[in-house]
Order: sequence, then C-alpha cells, then structure tokens
Amino acid sequence: MSDIKGVIFDLDGVIVSTDEYHFQAWNNLAEVEGVPFSRDDNERLRGVSRMESLEIILEKATREYTDEEKLAMATRKNDIYRESLKNLTPDDILPGVKDVLAGLRERGVKMAIGSSSKNAQPILAAIGLSDAFDAIVDGTHISNSKPDPEVFAKAGEQLGLAPKECLVVEDADAGVEAGVAAGMPVLAVGAASGHSAAVLHAADLTGISLNEMLMK
Ligand code: BG6
Ligand code: MG
Repeated sequence: MSDIKGVIFDLDGVIVSTDEYHFQAWNNLAEVEGVPFSRDDNERLRGVSRMESLEIILEKATREYTDEEKLAMATRKNDIYRESLKNLTPDDILPGVKDVLAGLRERGVKMAIGSSSKNAQPILAAIGLSDAFDAIVDGTHISNSKPDPEVFAKAGEQLGLAPKECLVVEDADAGVEAGVAAGMPVLAVGAASGHSAAVLHAADLTGISLNEMLMK
C-alpha cells in the first residue's frame, strides 16, 4: 500500500457515530406514516442519500406518495435528525479515529471526507474536526449518490491525486462499491467489513491497523 498518498474517509459510521440518530429520525417518520421499519431496514440506508433512503422505506408503504409529500417527509426527517445532532460532541468520534488522523498527518498522507450527507459540515463542526481534512466533498457537492463514484472521484481530484493513490475507508456496501467504481483501493470497516468487493478488510478502525496497512 506504499503508493497510497491520500485517504478518503466516509463520515457517518466511519469518523462519527450518527447511526442511532438517523435510525430514530426515520423510525419517528415511519411510525407517523404507519409504515413498518426495522433496524434491518435501516441497514439498507447506510451510505444512501436522504431521498433514496425515503424511497427504500416507502417500499413497505400501503399507498403511493406524491413528490411533494415525499419532499415534506424528507424535510421532516431531517428536522428531527438536525435536532438530535445538537447532542453531538467530540466524544462521538469513533474509537481510533483521532490516532489514525494524527498518524496520517504525521506521515504526510493527505486526508479527505467523501460523504453522501448534506449535514457533513455541521457534523464536522460539532465534533471539532472541521479543519482536520484537506478536502471535504459531501452530499451538497454531488449529483449522484453512492454507489456512484462521483463523491470519491471529486475528493481524489481535490487532493490532487490519481485514483490508485487514494484509499477509501467505508462502512457501507454502497460506499465500498463507489470506491471500487472510482478505481480506488477500499478499506471496508464496521458493517461493510465483510464486503467481497473490498480490497482490504478490517473488523475495526484503529490507529495501528490503518497505519500499519499504509506502511505495507
Ligand atoms: C450517509 C448516511 O452518510 O448520509 C445515510 O450513511 C444518510 O444513512 C446519508 O441517509 C444522507 O444524509 P443526510 O444527512 O444528507 O440526510
Ligand atoms: Mg457511512
């Protein structure tokens, strides 16, 4: 992995633990609408944009919704989610992340965020990592959500690196596929750690494991 000159991190589920907030907000919406929604259903929303997530949830709905209604629902979900983000602090940074970022910085490896979320900037501000990355590409900068490679391709470009020089770190199947489609090696962590398309697998993201991989 010695030709890796940059690491592009997904945000939700890799850098910070926002999973429960997303679940609670969607669950609230689903209950109001009387649409069945489980934690298994929620797993399918990992890495997927807000509107596409809503479409997945509405697969179990008993009626059709107009585009206007869908937009209103997505806005409602986001309002609930944004309210819970007020609880976010640097303590919500996932274990090992700060060590990894410090280790990479020390070694001169460039770092970026490649996230589907339109809330990436306020989340990074809440956890105190707004200035920790050389580039931030998020849901407000892209037209096609993961598994489309757009977010990672843009992040790689902003780092000034070729795809094969960038390592993607992802917890979502859609994100692993996006990284592979961008022509980048992918380290799959957390929920995606067993993904067959990933070039690298890790049960957890620790300073040692990622830094050691980059040294190889
Ligand atoms: C991804 C999350 O990072 O962002 C998804 O894994 C979420 O669950 C997506 O739907 C979009 O997030 P937001 O904050 O724009 O609603
Ligand atoms: Mg994620």
